[in-house]
Amino acid sequence: MRHGRMLSYQHSYHAGNLADVHKHALLAWMLAQMVAKDKPLSFIDTHAGRGLYDLGSVEARKTGEAQAGIEALADRFAPDDPYARMLSAVRAQHGPMAYPGTPLIARHLLRPQDRMTLAELHPGEHEALQTVMAGSGARIYRRDGLALVLSMAPPAPRRGVVIIDPSYEVKDDYTTLPEVLRKLRRKWNVGVLLLWYPVLAAGLQNAMLAQIRADHPDAAIFETRFPPARAGHGLHGAGLVVLNPPFGLKDRAAQVDALMRGQ
Ligand SMILES: C[S@@+](CC[C@H](N)C(=O)[O-])C[C@H]1O[C@@H](n2cnc3c(N)ncnc32)[C@H](O)[C@@H]1O
Repeated sequence: MRHGRMLSYQHSYHAGNLADVHKHALLAWMLAQMVAKDKPLSFIDTHAGRGLYDLGSVEARKTGEAQAGIEALADRFAPDDPYARMLSAVRAQHGPMAYPGTPLIARHLLRPQDRMTLAELHPGEHEALQTVMAGSGARIYRRDGLALVLSMAPPAPRRGVVIIDPSYEVKDDYTTLPEVLRKLRRKWNVGVLLLWYPVLAAGLQNAMLAQIRADHPDAAIFETRFPPARAGHGLHGAGLVVLNPPFGLKDRAAQVDALMRGQ
């Protein structure tokens, strides 16, 4: 039972790491593309986190992941890149060590006519998220984000994007997520559906990806590989599954991957 179990994952240890840079750079680009058209859109974030992170915090310093991530890579993004623009705006407002999570990225790139719906189960993260998003008009729930998105699909407006960014603390995630994507796409065929996944040395993600590819032969899957944060750490890369990808995403993903590898 999702509500009953303890949530131990805290994104503050990992915010701004290489996986975040990859996911957030692609998300920012997609949102920038989508707002180029006047029509309003829905943004749904099923695993929102706290929205804003302090890279100078004890948690962030303890792992050093942001130092190897955004701190090392920020200068490689062109200043007019949507991710770099959004990061500058967030830092102008919240200070040079601030790092935005997906809800704040969306807040900076979306327009008043767009509708944000955010879910976060952890009580402390949920409370922080409410503070960070105050005045944004976002609907914020302390609920299971997967059940939430399934219950509201198709959202109004129908045009839009959902980001599903679980921490994969429970192995069940690898089997339930393909089913969620199947149901979601059936209910919301025009939605841009994003699923983040870890690339693990143990290969836990492989069966999930094979299932998703079988269910959606048109799925776009973008991966980046990087050295593990610590010796023996199992995370060797990160990926994003995209159903109904905006035009041009493939080229953008190749650029981000090259930039991350220093090419
Ligand atoms: C990887 S973090 C999210 C990071 C965020 N998307 C970002 O990039 O800024 C995953 C978050 O999901 C929360 N969470 C775990 N299970 C959840 C569920 N079933 N529904 C909603 N939130 C959940 C955790 O407390 C954690 O804050």
